[in-house]
Amino acid sequence: MSERIFNFSAGPAALPEPVIRQAQKDLWDIDSSGIGILEHSHRGKVFDKITHETEADCRTVGGISDEYSVFWMQGGATSQCYFVPANFLPSDRTADYFETGKWAQDSIKDCPHYGACHVCASSRDTNFNAIPTPEQTNYSDNPVYVHFTANNTIMGTEFHAEPTAPKGAFLVSDMSSNIFSRPLDVSKYGLIYAGAQKNLGPSGTTLLIGRRDLIENPVRDLPQMMKFSNHAKKEGRFNTPNTFGVYLMGQVFKWILAEGGLKAMQERNDEVAGVLYSFLDSQDFYIPHAQHASRSNMNITFKCPTPELDKAFLVGAGSRGLDGLKGHRSIGGMRASMYNAFPKAGAKALVEFMKTFAHEHAAAAKA
Ligand SMILES: Cc1ncc(COP(=O)(O)O)c(C=O)c1O
Repeated sequence: MSERIFNFSAGPAALPEPVIRQAQKDLWDIDSSGIGILEHSHRGKVFDKITHETEADCRTVGGISDEYSVFWMQGGATSQCYFVPANFLPSDRTADYFETGKWAQDSIKDCPHYGACHVCASSRDTNFNAIPTPEQTNYSDNPVYVHFTANNTIMGTEFHAEPTAPKGAFLVSDMSSNIFSRPLDVSKYGLIYAGAQKNLGPSGTTLLIGRRDLIENPVRDLPQMMKFSNHAKKEGRFNTPNTFGVYLMGQVFKWILAEGGLKAMQERNDEVAGVLYSFLDSQDFYIPHAQHASRSNMNITFKCPTPELDKAFLVGAGSRGLDGLKGHRSIGGMRASMYNAFPKAGAKALVEFMKTFAHEHAAAAKA
């Protein structure tokens, strides 16, 4: 069998080893049922138990009260770009959006199908290398909600605290790439959604945590699959869900709890990201993209002095078992994605390679 290598992919991304090992067993036979997880009915007893445990463990991990529904949907975080305004935004009202990168822009594009969209702050002018400050934020008069992308996967920037929504408005956050990477106060939010494929499991499942009073009644008549209320009422089983995705997310929650919960995740992530950031801060060969105060603990973006060196870097890294480092085409360079499950040894191996590469190419870069 081939060895596993360090996977810096932005998503689908590295998962915790104990979770993968457990899944290997459960694919064949789960809970001594004589049937593997992929083959169980979503309405049967075994999957009932999985659904209830996954929800309960999610509540424990996130400290989520009964005021909130926890459920799953399909269609990725991208579908939430329209589910959110469809359910929450009346046609004569405004919602405020932070424009902090491509994923935020996707949400901004879909909002006007339903109501008015006001961009309350943007870092577009600097190719999204920063999170706007409160002083740079101008809310509209009476928004229904304020939407922000908690971690900008492509740019490598992260909100280190949630924005304060104006009175009467609630917060909606796309937490696809940093959910449960640090302690979270869910009570500050109206709705949180997260595609699973970074910190929570495989692609194809989206976790939703929504205040019950907000999701109960959509503001307009909607097709049945578009109503949050239908998915919430049926425990994410309004239609056939991605059963494996929900199962695996449950295993990830168990792993987070066994590791010590969100505080332990934060310590781990601070350490792992710290390996790379302290190296980047100590040198002048590589050029980081994100401004210091806005940088992400999950996705670290940087460039070599020239695009040719970026190409050579990626080839060299690949040959040393450091995979998935190519940056998104909109900013180029490199991106090291290191979510909860990513091992510190991988960050150290990357820094070792970066040192060697910089040493070998410093003269070429200056020429
Ligand atoms: C922050 C963020 N939002 C949304 C998406 C889109 O997710 P999906 O492809 O699951 O729709 C991504 C994908 O990487 C993301 O990182």
